[in-house]
Amino acid sequence: MQSYTVQPAKSVRGEIRVPGDKSISHRSIMFGSIANGVTKVSGFLRGEDALATLEAFRAMGVQIDDDGETVTIVGKGLHGLEEPTDVLDCGNSGTSMRLLTGLLAGQSFFSVLSGDKYLRARPMKRVVGPLSKMGAHIGGRAGGEKAPLAIQGSKLKGIEYDSPVSSAQVKSAIMLAGLYAEGETVVREPHLSRDHSERMLRAFGAHVETFPGGVKVRGGAELTGRDIVVPGDISSAAFFMVAGSIVPGAELVIKGVGINPTRTGIIDILMGMGADLELLHERDETGEPVADIRVRYAPLKAMAISGEVVPRAIDEFPAICVAAALAEGTTVVSGAEELRVKETDRITAMADNLRRAGVTVVETPDGMEITGVSALKACAADSFGDHRIAMSMMVAGLVAQGETTISDVDCIATSFPGFRELLEGVVQR
Ligand code: S3P
Repeated sequence: MQSYTVQPAKSVRGEIRVPGDKSISHRSIMFGSIANGVTKVSGFLRGEDALATLEAFRAMGVQIDDDGETVTIVGKGLHGLEEPTDVLDCGNSGTSMRLLTGLLAGQSFFSVLSGDKYLRARPMKRVVGPLSKMGAHIGGRAGGEKAPLAIQGSKLKGIEYDSPVSSAQVKSAIMLAGLYAEGETVVREPHLSRDHSERMLRAFGAHVETFPGGVKVRGGAELTGRDIVVPGDISSAAFFMVAGSIVPGAELVIKGVGINPTRTGIIDILMGMGADLELLHERDETGEPVADIRVRYAPLKAMAISGEVVPRAIDEFPAICVAAALAEGTTVVSGAEELRVKETDRITAMADNLRRAGVTVVETPDGMEITGVSALKACAADSFGDHRIAMSMMVAGLVAQGETTISDVDCIATSFPGFRELLEGVVQR
């Protein structure tokens, strides 16, 4: 387990591109595999999470080729997957495990999903519960709450489900089962979570209808393969948006970032804190809005963060915590209890790390209160095995008084291979 030491930066400047969107990359493999015909994906994220999904479909007999540029998937149709002869290893990836659970529930074969120790500790009842109501046969540790999950494919029927959480993984798992179910499947959620499944499934020809508060899927429709251009991941760009906002004199342009409105909470929050962000060259690429993002240093002020913006920024809270640690006043985050069941408990992890850096943080059950300081103390930070905690503390290290060492940074490879090099490439010392 490698650690990494960051030196403070004089400034950050440059023009960069971040790797492809993780959520869209997963879905391109899944939907391409169960479509008829060929799907060609450019901009695919070759991070460990999306590669776990790719390997899972190869293990179910799907031909997937990668020439380093384009990933080509030869779809097998809705009913063409083959029973995997071994456990499907989802690694660290909640998206792989939860979406696959939905997709596998309606197959005519048996499968087992497992993953690393972090994933095996995460809650799975949120998908196993509603899928069981559809007629799925899924067993798992702790009464189906924890992986490994064993799925005996069966005939499914559509349900109407009011999800207690705003979760794209829950919504997408049920939608994928809905493709195989008899009749209609409806999912409602408290606030709209990312809608990549809705957009992409519709583009593949599935019967998907959205309405305020939810989505409806009609089972049985065959999908048709298509070309997909994966935009840069706004969740990866977020680390550079925060770095550009907190390092004096900074100016960065991040090219080709996905700005789907269900993902732009980070932009709204940073701008609410006074950040200098600008969207340039807004365009559309295969059904997803894209822009270049320019960020310049600006003094930040604290704000209250809650409600509908929370799911729209759910993966960006570790980075937002770093922005809050340098903002004037106390930032109050609430309604964000989902952060406790991410790759690690991100409320506790960021509170712990920021305290080590000299920041006053109060944890609450569903959020935290962070009182900003003018400079961070040098410290030894802990990634807790979570890629986004590691990257956030590396960004924090740019504005610390001295060296910041972050333990176990190998996990960054799950979502952002090349992060260190990209960051060091824009830092001026
Ligand atoms: C994802 C949904 C979110 C997010 C995760 C990716 C997806 O999880 O945190 O990184 O691709 O559907 P939840 O559905 O648990 O909020």
